Amino acid sequence: RLLIVDFGSQVTQLIARRLRELNVYCEIHPFQSVTDAFLDTYRPKAVILSGGPASVLDDASPRPPEKVFALGVPVLGICYGQQVMMQMLGGRVESGHGTAEFGRAYVTPADQRIDLLNGWFLDGTGREQVWMSHGDHVAEIAPGFEVFGTSPNAPFAIVGDLDRQFYAVQFHPEVHHTPNGKTLYENFVKLAGFSGDWTMGAYRDEAIQKIRDQVGDARVICGLSGGVDSSVAAVLIHEAIGEQLTCVFVDHGLLRLNEAEEVVTMFRDHYNIPLIHADETDLFLGALEGVSDPEVKRKTIGKLFIDVFQKYADQIEGAAFLAQGTLYPDVIESVSFSGGPSVTIKSHHNVGGLPEKMGLKLVEPLRELFKDEVRALGRELGLPDSFIGRHPFPGPGLAIRCPGEITREKLEILRKADAVYIDQIRKHGLYDEIWQAFVAILPVRTVGVMGDGRTYDYACALRAVTSVDGMTADYYPFTHDFLGETATRIINEVKGINRVTYDITSKPPGTIEWE
Ligand code: XMP
Repeated sequence: RLLIVDFGSQVTQLIARRLRELNVYCEIHPFQSVTDAFLDTYRPKAVILSGGPASVLDDASPRPPEKVFALGVPVLGICYGQQVMMQMLGGRVESGHGTAEFGRAYVTPADQRIDLLNGWFLDGTGREQVWMSHGDHVAEIAPGFEVFGTSPNAPFAIVGDLDRQFYAVQFHPEVHHTPNGKTLYENFVKLAGFSGDWTMGAYRDEAIQKIRDQVGDARVICGLSGGVDSSVAAVLIHEAIGEQLTCVFVDHGLLRLNEAEEVVTMFRDHYNIPLIHADETDLFLGALEGVSDPEVKRKTIGKLFIDVFQKYADQIEGAAFLAQGTLYPDVIESVSFSGGPSVTIKSHHNVGGLPEKMGLKLVEPLRELFKDEVRALGRELGLPDSFIGRHPFPGPGLAIRCPGEITREKLEILRKADAVYIDQIRKHGLYDEIWQAFVAILPVRTVGVMGDGRTYDYACALRAVTSVDGMTADYYPFTHDFLGETATRIINEVKGINRVTYDITSKPPGTIEWE
């Protein structure tokens, strides 16, 4: 296994992700826990020292133990990792003063090493785009090292000691903006003797062991939303601890057609996971009666959700842990945005704060993974593809797809129209190309003519967007044929709708949801 010593960089998890893509098993450990004793038992086959916000010029700056360099295994230092490596091995680091570098830069190979770098990292074109983010820089390399590559502001962009197999780079090869960075990691792990045969199946086994170690024989509650993340977390935890897990599925009555039944059947009957179906439709719809302000809707649902969850969780005796399907991007977002200057566009629905209130500890087995990796893990756990590939669905559910007042009648109509629309998209083979598609029912009635009669029914809007992360989005360019056929089907099959529109707003300026 490969050890990543974390010095607190924002992108350390991306290193792990790149290595998993190369089918190499790695673990991230914070620098504080990497001691001599730890290294003796851990016995890594290679070590990567991550970037980090500290300056090696501060006395109290974090360091790996000297022993890292005496293990006889390859070591790769990145950014702060490079600086700490150079300083500990006898080089010198200086502070920024005009040489700080943030963003795109180009590395060119040192003349005598052109052959080595071509194929190792460079593609032969003579320069390589990299992503820099550093204040301090190496001023003098450590004895035994030589320079392989330079950039205008980093004369020691790539350095290495071929005898000891120590390498260090000033830039971040793990980020997207270093396009060839993966090749660098690939060559580093080859050099360390990894065969690249680690799989998601192995990840699952390790994750299961970690959950067992963390939880012991305590009981765990999992709030199941029916979404991919909480579902994968629940199935994984169930594999680890079986009946010690109880899932609570809060049904606010704002779900899609047949959704509650599907979730209950899948988890209770198929997976045999103890599941409480908290059907609180009346409670939620009662509280939402007469409410049309989007923020009031969101807050009402969010608060009730927590109350209800707590009420059911209290019935589970001896529960000590709350399981959540938190992903790595959620971790990053909550770190970088909490208390930040950004304004609230929407009050997002989450159960943050709940664990403290209930005195529960957290189990978050997906914390290190990205969405596509969670999907791969879900497949490994036998969740059906159709389920794993589902579009995201917001916590407040259909409430925010029903602008204006929410009534049972409107929800019924909305559910049916949405089901027809999604069916159309699946039939045309477009589902996987679209990030998210849904119907919103509009708070207006319009006049139409069907047969020989007059109708006065609701209008609805179809929404479909492409996106990478939900932060920005563009509308999906359906053909006119598709739109026409879908509108006809909705009007024919769904009583209560006599007009269909297509929403062609991008985000920004729109948002994906209507509220
Ligand atoms: P917007 O509408 O803000 O949505 O462009 C971006 C993405 O987030 C989803 N969304 C939510 N997800 N709780 C969630 O779990 C929420 O309160 C919530 N609001 C929006 C939305 O469906 C889209 O994927």
